[in-house]
Amino acid sequence: MDIIKVKDLSKDFDGFKAVKSISFNVEKGEVFGFLGPNGAGKTTTINMLTGLAKPSSGEIMIAGRDGIREIKDVQRIIGIVPDESNLYDEMSGFENLVFCASLYGIKKKLREQRAESLLKQFSLEDTGDRPFKAYSKGMKRKLTIAAGMIHEPEILFLDEPTTGIDVESARQIRRMIEELNGKGTTIFLTTHYIEDAERLCHRIGFIVSGKVIKVSRVQDLMANAQEEKIVEFRWNSKDPGLENSLLSTFPEITLKPSSAQSIRVSSQGEMELMPFMRFFEEQGVKITEAKIIRPSLEEVFVNVTGIELDRLKKEKEGKGK
Ligand SMILES: Nc1ncnc2c1ncn2[C@@H]1O[C@H](COP(=O)(O)OP(=O)(O)OP(=O)(O)O)[C@@H](O)[C@H]1O
Ligand SMILES: [Mg+2]
Repeated sequence: MDIIKVKDLSKDFDGFKAVKSISFNVEKGEVFGFLGPNGAGKTTTINMLTGLAKPSSGEIMIAGRDGIREIKDVQRIIGIVPDESNLYDEMSGFENLVFCASLYGIKKKLREQRAESLLKQFSLEDTGDRPFKAYSKGMKRKLTIAAGMIHEPEILFLDEPTTGIDVESARQIRRMIEELNGKGTTIFLTTHYIEDAERLCHRIGFIVSGKVIKVSRVQDLMANAQEEKIVEFRWNSKDPGLENSLLSTFPEITLKPSSAQSIRVSSQGEMELMPFMRFFEEQGVKITEAKIIRPSLEEVFVNVTGIELDRLKKEKEGKGK
C-alpha cells in the first residue's frame, strides 16, 4: 500500500523552478530515500510534504488524506526532523522533548516518560538537563530526531539525518532509523551520502535539478550493476596509443575512467583475462596487476545521474562546517 502519493508536484520561487513536476509513491513500512546533490530540491520537497512550504502545483496524498488541504490532520501522524534544528536554545534537552510532546496533546506523565526513554535511546540521558545551546552538533541532531519521534508518528521525515556529524553519532542515528522502521514506521529521508542510501533505504529516488530522474529498489540497482563486469589493469610505463588499439582489438568492451597508470575495461558479459594479457604482451606493456572491480552504488549513481562523484564529495566536505 502506498502511504505517500505525490503527483506532478512543483515549487516555484519567484519564477525559479526548484521542483519540477515530480511524481513518486512511498510504500507503507519502507525506508524511502531522496538522493541528490546540493540544490537538487530535496529540502523543498520534504517541506512541501510536511506542510512547511506550499506547493505551486500538484497533488500530495498522505495516509489517505489530502496532503495540501488536510495538512493539519496529516501533521498529527507525521514526524518532521529538519536539517537545521527547530528546538529551543534556552530549554534543556528534556524540556524540549516534553514541550514537543505537549504540542501533540500528550498527557504530562506520558510526556515525561517518553522524553526520558528517548534521551536514553540516544545516549543523552546524562545531558538531558543541559540547555540545548550547550549541545554539540551530533547531540543536537539526535535530540532533534528524538523530538520528531515523540508522538510516535506513522511516518518520519528526516532531512539529511547524518550530514555534518561524527561517525559514531551517525552510526547511532542509522541504528535508530533501522529500529524505528523495524517497528513499522515509514521513513522518508534525504541524503547526499551514497553510503546512507545503500545501507538504509529500500528504495531510492534520484533527484537532480528539481527532477526525479529514477526511482529504484536498492537491490535492483545493485543487481543491474553486478551484470557489468569491470577489470582493471595496471602497468608501469605509459603508452598513449594503447587505448585505441585495445578498443579495436576488443570491440565488445568500453573503457571506464581510471588513473594514468591503469585502464578499466568494462563489458556486459563474462570477460576472460587471458586474451587481454596476450594483447598487452604483444604491445610490450608489462602488467603489474589485473583485478576485477565490483561496481558500487556510487558508479550506479554516476551512470544514472551523469554527476561525477568528485562533485558530490566536494559538497559533502563543504557542508556541515
Ligand atoms: N526560499 C527560497 N527562495 C528561493 N529559492 C529557494 C528557496 N528555497 C530553496 N530555493 C532554491 O531551490 C533549489 C532547491 O533547494 P533545496 O534546498 O530544496 O535543495 P536541496 O536538495 O535540499 O539541497 P542541499 O543538499 O544543499 O540541502 C535551490 O536552487 C535553492 O537555491
Ligand atoms: Mg536540503
